[in-house]
Parts: sequence; structure tokens; C-alpha cells
Amino acid sequence: MKNLDWADLGFGYIPTNYNVRCYYRDGKWGEIETCSDEYLKLHMAATCLHYGQEAFEGLKAYRCPDGKVRVFRMRDNAARLQQTCNGIMMPTVPIELFEEMVTRVIRLNQDYVPTYESKAALYIRPLIIGTSAQVGVKPAEEYLFLIFVTPVGPYFKGGFSTNPYVIVRNFDRSAPLGTGMYKVGGNYAASLRANALAHEKGYASEFYLDAKEKKYVDECGAANFFAIKGNKYLTPKSSSILPSITNNSLMQLARDLGMEVEQRPIAEEELDTFDEAGACGTAAVISPISYLDDMETGQRYTFSADGKPGPVSTRLYNLLRDIQYGIAEDKHGWTTVV
Ligand code: PLP
Ligand code: COI
Repeated sequence: MKNLDWADLGFGYIPTNYNVRCYYRDGKWGEIETCSDEYLKLHMAATCLHYGQEAFEGLKAYRCPDGKVRVFRMRDNAARLQQTCNGIMMPTVPIELFEEMVTRVIRLNQDYVPTYESKAALYIRPLIIGTSAQVGVKPAEEYLFLIFVTPVGPYFKGGFSTNPYVIVRNFDRSAPLGTGMYKVGGNYAASLRANALAHEKGYASEFYLDAKEKKYVDECGAANFFAIKGNKYLTPKSSSILPSITNNSLMQLARDLGMEVEQRPIAEEELDTFDEAGACGTAAVISPISYLDDMETGQRYTFSADGKPGPVSTRLYNLLRDIQYGIAEDKHGWTTVV
């Protein structure tokens, strides 16, 4: 194990020993290469640099109290990457290749998997880019699929604690028929100004309504939105949000607890009726929302009267964490020992 201050880690980049790479040339994927170089040599006309042919994923591996390292739902991340690749005309990465590379890169960097006690994790960042030269707007013929890892702490300050969010109406992250459901870099570029504005005003993150009507709830920056109302778990159905694997897991856990799960368009006015609400994602895990301000109307939606995470969010958070750390039974086969 490296001698790092694991408990003090933020969500940043720390160099590790190795990354793994695989090149797509002549219509097929090559051999997996292990690499210790953090840099890429790229053609200046590569499509990733000009036309945004870039997609990524994010998943985590955990050092568990039984001494094993487990990775969470890597097959689902592999499947989502395939959808993204299809969405922006890149060749799909075979599921088995994705899994083999994730497994290999974790093993190669096992000294960087944080201690269980620190509550930090190893963040795994797969990315695929179009590498061959084009000047006309069309897909590349060659691609690089690369995975690097870096140990991370909580995405939002304070880990599992409430944070305020703000609805931004003068920015859209993605259009209803755009690329919002894919994990492509362009969506994040589109979010940077809104995110900076939210931070400037003291909020943890920006919050998006649907781009077309500005009527329905979309996402909380780089995380999905969920709410609790009585015995119900609610989450938006929208064509412009990323299908979050964490959200999908929480829906299943809510069902396991006997809760009703509703995935449907959620109108902004409904926010007033929720008992609890939160952002969820690999980086955010569950990040409960204290209140959500609508900058334009001045309306405030409050989800925590005492500033603490609500009981259902807490229960779901603990259940999810216990599965990720191999403490609770993994009934749905979500974890893989690496
Ligand atoms: N929404 C966006 C825009 C994201 O970037 C992420 C992060 O991956 C999520 C939601 C959460 O998805 P997941 O739970 O699969 O990490
Ligand atoms: C994640 O939750 O994995 C994300 O990708 C969010 C952000 C770091 C982009």
C-alpha cells in the first residue's frame, strides 16, 4: 500500500503506476497494452480534438473489510459505454475487453486502492477517443480505448451530508434529442459555465430543468436526481439525462425495501411535495439535498428541515455502501472481486 493520507483525499487526480490501452485499427481491436506514461501522442487532426469524438465512463473499486477488492457493476458501465459509442459513431468496446481491462488496471494499481477505514475508493476512468485525422466532419477510422485509475475521496465536501443546489434556467446541459443520455465530453463542456456560476453563489452544484419547456426536472449537474415521498422513490424520466447506474441500483434497493418506485417526468411544482431528495452517482454516491433554489423565481424547495440527511436516504446509502464493501449480501450480483 502507498503511504497516502487516504481519509483526506478529495476528488482529484493522483498519478498511479499504470494505465491500460487498446487501439482500434483496420476495423478491429488490438491487444491490451500496459503503460506507465501519463501522456498521449495524438495527431493534431484527431477527431476527438475537433469534433468531440470522445466518451468516458466512471466506476469505483473498494477495499473491503474482508481484505478483498471489489468493483461495482462494471458490466453495466461496459454496456452504457457501448450505447454511448453507438450514439456518436465510434466502434463499441466489447464487454469482455472492457471487463478484462478494468480488472487488469485495478490489479496493476492495487497499492492505490484506499483503505476501507478511509471511506475513499479507487475511481476508474475508461475513455475512448477518435485518433485518426479528419478535417471533414465524419467519424475517425482509428480509436484509442484507455483506462486510468486514481484514488478519490468524496465528490462533495463532507461526504454523506446535505448540500444546497440551484436551478439554472439560462443554461442547458443537453437537448431532448441531443447527447444527454450519452457520457460524452461535450455535455460536460456545456455544463462548465452553469457549474461555475452555482459554485460562485455558494451552491454545491447546478440543477437542470428540461431544456425544451423548462418545466420538468432533469439532473443535478453530474448526478441524477431522486426524491422520497412517503413510501415512494421517485426519479425523473427524461431523454436528456444520463441513465445512472447508481440510480438504477437505488431503485432496486428501494423495491427490495418494499417501496414503490416511479420513474416519470417530474414537474418542478412537485418538488414542493417531497420529504427527501438527493443527487446520486458514482462520484456523488448519495448526496442529499438540503434545499434547491430557483434563481429566477426566487422559490426555495426545502428537503431537510434540520439540515441532516433524511431517514430513507440514509437507509439507502448504508445499504448501497454495505453491498459495495462486501458487507451486505450482494443479491443482485453487482460486485466482482478483482
Ligand atoms: N448524470 C451525469 C451527467 C453523470 O456524469 C453521472 C456520472 O456518471 C451520473 C448522472 C451518475 O451516473 P452513475 O451512477 O452511473 O455514475
Ligand atoms: C461519475 O459520477 O462517475 C462522474 O463521472 C461524475 C463526474 C466526475 C463527471
